[in-house]
Amino acid sequence: MIPVAEDFGRDGRIREDLRLGRICLSRRLAVPVSTFEDIILARQRVKRLMVEMDFCTLARTRVITAVSELTRNIVVHAGSGEMTVFQSAPGSRLPLILCEFTDQGPGIADIFLALRAGYSTSDSMGLGLSGSRKLCKYFHIESTLGKGTRVIIAEWKTS
Ligand SMILES: Nc1ncnc2c1ncn2[C@@H]1O[C@H](COP(=O)(O)OP(=O)(O)OP(=O)(O)O)[C@@H](O)[C@H]1O
Ligand SMILES: [Mg+2]
Repeated sequence: MIPVAEDFGRDGRIREDLRLGRICLSRRLAVPVSTFEDIILARQRVKRLMVEMDFCTLARTRVITAVSELTRNIVVHAGSGEMTVFQSAPGSRLPLILCEFTDQGPGIADIFLALRAGYSTSDSMGLGLSGSRKLCKYFHIESTLGKGTRVIIAEWKTS
């Protein structure tokens, strides 16, 4: 039986809409990422936007933690890249923030392995990707060896 959209629940439906590019988003800001100072700037910019959008402290903390990890991955594993932040139209019935992290670094050979808690190629804790996936309502990763990596996270208000 094919599940009807309603079966996903509200959050599931939003995830599906994001996956299919069905949510109208506008680009709010972009932060080039190549230094540890850029990580701090990326955190500050996302925090400010989430305060402006009136997200609760818990949601802000979850997203900003993921922003730290994903920008740090760009610096550590790819050298440089970019974070781009989008939001749903102001006044939209669905207040949503989406952050995209892209780099043209070495890419990830085995995404399944990279998402496993404790897996690291840099002798670190290996918790950045798995933690971000757990923290965010929406998490998407794609990577091509030799070409780069793209991670998307999103958070929205639960009614
Ligand atoms: N942007 C990226 N480009 C290339 N490889 C990456 C990228 N992000 C993650 N990886 C690979 O995925 C692995 C897991 O990433 P994750 O962030 O979970 O752990 P880590 O960065 O090694 O350690 P931690 O984040 O806990 O300090 C990394 O060790 C690395 O091999
Ligand atoms: Mg990491």
